[in-house]
Amino acid sequence: MIKISGFKIFKHHFSNRIINIQIKEKTLEKLSEKFSRFDLTAIEYKPFTRFTVAKYLDDLTNNELSKFLNEILRDRKTGCFIIGPEKLISKIDDIFLVKLSTAITHLIGTPNHDSMAGKFYARFHVKHEDKSDSYLRKAYTNLDLHTDGTYIKETTDWLMMTKIEEKNVEGGESVMLHLDDWEYCKELYNDPIGRENFTWSSPKSKNVDYKVEHPVFFEDSKGLPQISYIDQFPEPKNMKQGQFLQKLSEALEGSINKVITKLPAGSAIVANNYFWLHGRKPFKENKNLSRELLRIRGKFF
Ligand SMILES: [Fe+2]
Repeated sequence: MIKISGFKIFKHHFSNRIINIQIKEKTLEKLSEKFSRFDLTAIEYKPFTRFTVAKYLDDLTNNELSKFLNEILRDRKTGCFIIGPEKLISKIDDIFLVKLSTAITHLIGTPNHDSMAGKFYARFHVKHEDKSDSYLRKAYTNLDLHTDGTYIKETTDWLMMTKIEEKNVEGGESVMLHLDDWEYCKELYNDPIGRENFTWSSPKSKNVDYKVEHPVFFEDSKGLPQISYIDQFPEPKNMKQGQFLQKLSEALEGSINKVITKLPAGSAIVANNYFWLHGRKPFKENKNLSRELLRIRGKFF
């Protein structure tokens, strides 16, 4: 495994496809000092400032980190990394984590506008009670395996999910599945219905007022399967499409090759959005349950 000074890098203990990157304390302190030059308003209002914080991060590694992160995400054999502090030190607060997440993503590509939040990133809570209209914030329901950006026009090559903090949490583990580990990939990928156009829409909270059309499966430049799918948003046009989606949903949830992992607070999971699916296990009921997440999705440079 490659060595980058100021970081600890190793393979995830449950999957060779996921790379763990821990940021050492000294590096965090240097970053915190550099990041303090800008407040969140500057990061939100001035897109070029986002690249400045990204450069601070990359400069600490002689530009090795950006190269490494891009290699992981584009490599079909891996395509996913978990990055976060080796130790939670006092300098790590929510503001620092927004800046760090901004820095990491701006070494990979440009973020899409997140319509739910009205900016390039979204912060949201999962709590005991929820009145929203999607599975995202339903704590006690499985968030089934899916990819992001299925109902928007923009390309969504990658996604980042950062756990800002959590309290009174049991359960709610991250669930990941790589297409090449999925037992039913060949069968579903070769079904002609998966290559038909489906209509995708979204509920009100997503603030997207159009529908898009695309198939569930398509191939990459090397002819390998790629997927764009989420259970809640396709509108099947007929029985054939409805049955196909039901079968697909069951075949994904039924996979025994899912990677189930507990993401530490302060850490982020970043994955290629076309050959990794992600989901979340239900939480154990607790009236004081609270988890805050940050997400950024975007395109490669
Ligand atoms: Fe998602």
